[in-house]
Amino acid sequence: MLEKLNELEQRALAELDQVADAQELQNWKVKHLGRSAEVGMVLEGLRELPSEDRPAVGRRVNEVKSSLEKAYASKENVLRSNELVHSLTEERLDVTLPGLSPARGRIHPSTQTMRHIIRIWAEMGFQVYRSREVETDEYNFGLLNFPPHHPARDMQDSFYTTDPEVILRTHTSPGQIRVMRERAPEPVRVVLPGMCFRHEQITARSEIQFNQIEGLAVGYNITMADLKGTLIAFARRFFGEDVRTRFRGSYFPFTEPSAELDIECFVCGGEGCPVCKRTGWLEILGSGMVHPTVLENGGYDPAVYSGFAFGMGPERITMLKHGIEDIRYFWANDLRFLEQF
Ligand code: DAH
Repeated sequence: MLEKLNELEQRALAELDQVADAQELQNWKVKHLGRSAEVGMVLEGLRELPSEDRPAVGRRVNEVKSSLEKAYASKENVLRSNELVHSLTEERLDVTLPGLSPARGRIHPSTQTMRHIIRIWAEMGFQVYRSREVETDEYNFGLLNFPPHHPARDMQDSFYTTDPEVILRTHTSPGQIRVMRERAPEPVRVVLPGMCFRHEQITARSEIQFNQIEGLAVGYNITMADLKGTLIAFARRFFGEDVRTRFRGSYFPFTEPSAELDIECFVCGGEGCPVCKRTGWLEILGSGMVHPTVLENGGYDPAVYSGFAFGMGPERITMLKHGIEDIRYFWANDLRFLEQF
């Protein structure tokens, strides 16, 4: 029996010597140290031996087992370090190869324009006021002097909630009432940026969501001249010192009088082209003197206070600036569009 064990050990060690890779090592392990390994079988036969021989054979079995385990472990080490040497010498790394740079996100074009616009207003002394996106019908329309069945409400089809009084704001103007009610009777100079929502057909020119930047100044002796001077100053800072501007009379329920500001078309220099629809001018914002009723709704006595307001669309301005022809690009999340900014 002991003879057989010695012979078995020699054979297993000889086989281990021939092992050249991890797969062969694994096979060897199954054969010589696995559950049905030969050494284990010897133990099974122990019962048939005379009892005085059993301890010696048992001890030898354990010795052989641990000698094979040790041999296995050192072989495993040798193979591992061979592998390392191999990969270091054969699979050399070229550290001079240019790396793969991770894709970096960037600021959305609308946000870039909004920040630029807000920075200019901040330099002119306007604070940023964040107003809510979910509004009541009263703030969005009623307090802004839209009579109940006024057709102007149809121009701004609303998204309704289950409560018909609660809607998504269709413009940033309701923020005017919120600021005034918070600040009255102090003078205010604020801009209100944020997302607006309209239940409209999505086309190249209209989206169901878009940003606006509202502006409001309320104080003593604020006149139409202040409105014009301030808005022209803004246009010069944003579009450049020599930009030509014009005011055009308009209508909004919450301002009286109302005007829209146009800048000379920078694509054709005022000659007339498809971008300006052959007029030579581009509309960039709506504005006006705050309607007395709106001042009153905000908590200001219109006999003492006056103010001006304006509202502009950063997406529209971004489209004009970069010649973007379709407003749907803004929220389509197409990197081919976004990466250009
Ligand atoms: N709220 C208007 C709209 O969404 C834009 C606007 C026009 C805002 C004139 C104003 C304003 O504050 O004075 O079309």
